[in-house]
Amino acid sequence: MHLMRINGSESGARMGTRTRTTARPGGAALASGGSARPRDARARTRAAARRRSGAIEPQLEIRPARPSDLAPVIAIDTEVTGLAKPAYWRGIFRRYADSAKAGRHLLVATASGEVVGFIIGEVRDWEFGSPPCGWVFGIDVRPGARLAGVGTKLLAAIVKAFRRSGVATVRTILARENALVLSFFRSQGMMAGPFISLEMELG
Ligand SMILES: CC(C)(COP(=O)(O)OP(=O)(O)OC[C@H]1O[C@@H](n2cnc3c(N)ncnc32)[C@H](O)[C@@H]1OP(=O)(O)O)[C@@H](O)C(=O)NCCC(=O)NCCS
Repeated sequence: MHLMRINGSESGARMGTRTRTTARPGGAALASGGSARPRDARARTRAAARRRSGAIEPQLEIRPARPSDLAPVIAIDTEVTGLAKPAYWRGIFRRYADSAKAGRHLLVATASGEVVGFIIGEVRDWEFGSPPCGWVFGIDVRPGARLAGVGTKLLAAIVKAFRRSGVATVRTILARENALVLSFFRSQGMMAGPFISLEMELG
């Protein structure tokens, strides 16, 4: 089965030109790593290709968000979703920045000092009858900085923080039509979990 790179579009409607084939255990094929090689080997290959092409490798750092990151985070979200939500982000920064002790995490990725992505999540105890687990609520990488491992590093960093809190499971919820985010999370090893979501219109 041939699968293509999903373009930077969040609608997932536009498809890129790179053809990918990935065999998954159990026969499932997904847009993902693109080869059976381990993720570390693929990351090394990508880094070597960038070095050969002469591209300057920006220093990537993952760290907890600071108040000064508010503006770039709003800018990335606005670029990705087309909707500016400054009040929402101010609330997220109040609740999540500097709240690691409470199991809440807002991490940013910086390349050469510039914020290029972020991830938000927290440890929730006994919600939906589940033992404590880590929830990822949001992840965004600037379109110009994608496909360079930033999303992978952000997820790895929040998972590390969740582990430090003593939880052994990470969960997320995503829009059914967001094939890009689904491909990303599947590539990281995440699979359909034991919960389903229900909703109804309150007319
Ligand atoms: C999903 C997202 C975070 C991925 O970030 P990224 O830095 O490009 O991800 P990585 O470079 O670490 O990619 C990891 C893997 O994800 C998968 N992936 C990433 N982008 C992909 C694409 N366009 N098509 C298919 N698979 C893709 C691949 O398997 C990739 O591994 P590979 O490059 O070794 O094949 C980024 O595309 C994004 O911010 N998208 C919009 C997010 C969004 O809609 N947020 C709102 C809801 S939370």
